[in-house]
Amino acid sequence: MLDPALAVTNPEATISATAPGGFRGLYRAFFDHAEKKRRWNVVDGIPWDQVKHQAVDEDLVEILEAFYSVEMYLPDYSAKLIALNRQNHGMAWFLTNWCYEESKHAMVIEEWLIRSGRRTPQQMEQLNDRLLAGEWQLPFTSTRRMLIYSMMQELATQLNYVNLSKLTAPAGDAALQKLILLIASDEGLHHKMFVDCVKEHLNADRAGTVEDLAYVLQHFAMPAHDQIPDWKRKGELIERHRIYGGRQFVTRVLVPTLKSLEVDRKELQIGRARSDS
Ligand SMILES: [Fe+2]
Ligand SMILES: [Fe+2]
Repeated sequence: MLDPALAVTNPEATISATAPGGFRGLYRAFFDHAEKKRRWNVVDGIPWDQVKHQAVDEDLVEILEAFYSVEMYLPDYSAKLIALNRQNHGMAWFLTNWCYEESKHAMVIEEWLIRSGRRTPQQMEQLNDRLLAGEWQLPFTSTRRMLIYSMMQELATQLNYVNLSKLTAPAGDAALQKLILLIASDEGLHHKMFVDCVKEHLNADRAGTVEDLAYVLQHFAMPAHDQIPDWKRKGELIERHRIYGGRQFVTRVLVPTLKSLEVDRKELQIGRARSDS
């Protein structure tokens, strides 16, 4: 029989004992699919010869640079998330693969910013130094809350990229369109993996998981904005161009995620009441 204390502090122990495959099975399926169907590389995965130099509106370049800035906290995302999950075999291995995929996002955006002539290598170095000087902290301390947070954040991130791609499309820069859509595809599959993992938690402890879901939603904010220089202005640009904001979060992130999890609003309200008490 499971030690009840272990089940509370390490919910994955419950899951791996009760669900065939569990996180390890989910990760293996995710990894095999990525290896067979989804791998891309920065050098020849993008039609770099089709980069345009002045076609994209400067507001949109600035927004792309803001997304790049969020991706640049990867050393903190990777170190802290893997440390938090190091005893969960499937999740720890998934996160190592996740870090690899996330690392390409910053690389490919930086490459476009420089190749398009919109930023110089020196400007990027200065930005990188400023970004790496700050440190992102985990917004939640439990593995389950961080998993729920990551699930929401990945879909919100995908939405940000997809909406940006709609605004950049008229510029006709095939390289930019390709790289944004490759990133968006990665983010969407990260979201799906996190959804599947949260479902495992729901199966093991539905009431506690819904309570954590309600708690995370009450405190949700996209990552690293407090660290990124001049975020207020960048956030306003993102909202002004209707790429992302509170309304999009509810309709395009929260509603579809609850549907994927098969959690309705009434159940969420009950969870919220419990998390408030
Ligand atoms: Fe990313
Ligand atoms: Fe992602």
